[in-house]
Amino acid sequence: MTNQRILLSPPHMSGREQKYIQDAFSSNWIAPLGPNVDAFENEICQYVRADGAVAVSSGTAAIHLALSLLGVEKGDIVYCPTLTFIASANPIIYQGAKPVFIDSEPDTWNICPIALEKALKAAANKGKLPKAIIVVNLYGHCAKMEEILALCEEYGIPMIEDAAESLGSTYKNKAAGTFGKFGVFSFNGNKIITTSGGGALISNDLEAIKKARFLATQSRDPAPFYQHSEIGYNYRLSNVLAGIGRGQLEVIEERVDMRRYIYQVYERELSSIRGFNFLNELENTRSNRWLTTVTIDENETEASAKTILDTLAKNNIEGRHVWKPLHLQPLFNECDFYTHNENVCISEQLFQSGICLPSGTNLDINDQRRVINCIKAVVGISEIEDNFIIQ
Ligand SMILES: Cc1ncc(COP(=O)(O)O)c(C=O)c1O
Repeated sequence: MTNQRILLSPPHMSGREQKYIQDAFSSNWIAPLGPNVDAFENEICQYVRADGAVAVSSGTAAIHLALSLLGVEKGDIVYCPTLTFIASANPIIYQGAKPVFIDSEPDTWNICPIALEKALKAAANKGKLPKAIIVVNLYGHCAKMEEILALCEEYGIPMIEDAAESLGSTYKNKAAGTFGKFGVFSFNGNKIITTSGGGALISNDLEAIKKARFLATQSRDPAPFYQHSEIGYNYRLSNVLAGIGRGQLEVIEERVDMRRYIYQVYERELSSIRGFNFLNELENTRSNRWLTTVTIDENETEASAKTILDTLAKNNIEGRHVWKPLHLQPLFNECDFYTHNENVCISEQLFQSGICLPSGTNLDINDQRRVINCIKAVVGISEIEDNFIIQ
């Protein structure tokens, strides 16, 4: 058995990217605009059934543009789930606004409608409602959209759907990313499809999409010289990278099927271990299973999230803790936070007990077996293979 490094979620090229990259080179469209960018935007729209899309340099840039388009500015408040990557919240700070963090709920790990309602009621009483609510579909699982959208409507607050991790997921047959006023995708190297780095902002509001394109291109006024009346950004995606995206998007459904298959193998092999819990899909949803996650209840088994991750690392396998909640980040230690209920903080429990397992679509079945056997060896239910290092 080899001891080659197994990565969490490496890029997986389809082989179709080269043609589009070659087109960009042949036509000399080596710029942050061009035919691949236009086509990629249209293809994203077709795939998720949105009216408009702007391809940008990162998912973070797309969130920033969404906040800017919603008029979020200094002194405003924006709600954000606490259990997410920091990129969901950083653009709130870019705008000079303040994040308020909302706990997870246990069924999807996403923003908790109960905590959200508590926060909104308190804000309404104070007369200071948030300017926007960011909702994240963590690890590919859609948030409880109906409950969240009902609250957004009741309080008249626009939702930004951070679907960076959930391209290809659906909720009641509707694509992830299409529930909010704005949806955000990331094409970072570790995502289900990649452009090496990139992102997209989508919306059915075509005027807003036009404005996003303007803001992302340094807000250049329609004048015969360089004239700028408002602040802009250099956020457009390169035509070369959009070519990679086109070749990747052609195989998105295969990629979703493969991630789901990888999840099924882990679940089949590990779910009978006492204390190991996998996340089921909500009824009528399809998760792209971007990363397989599992929680380990230390009271039920000898192992813990830490011992498993340490052992994986010693065996050249990359696993990760679930995101560290943002309300625990030193950067945000002064921000308000609303928990699931008075005595229970779901996100902290998930951080303590949750790990992400290698889930890349190019994960070889023998490599996945290596991951599984390594975990089984930690909990003492499989033969320790000769070259396993168990602490
Ligand atoms: C939930 C979430 N939001 C936002 C981002 C930011 O995307 P990007 O890395 O493309 O800026 C990521 C991933 O990187 C993410 O996982």
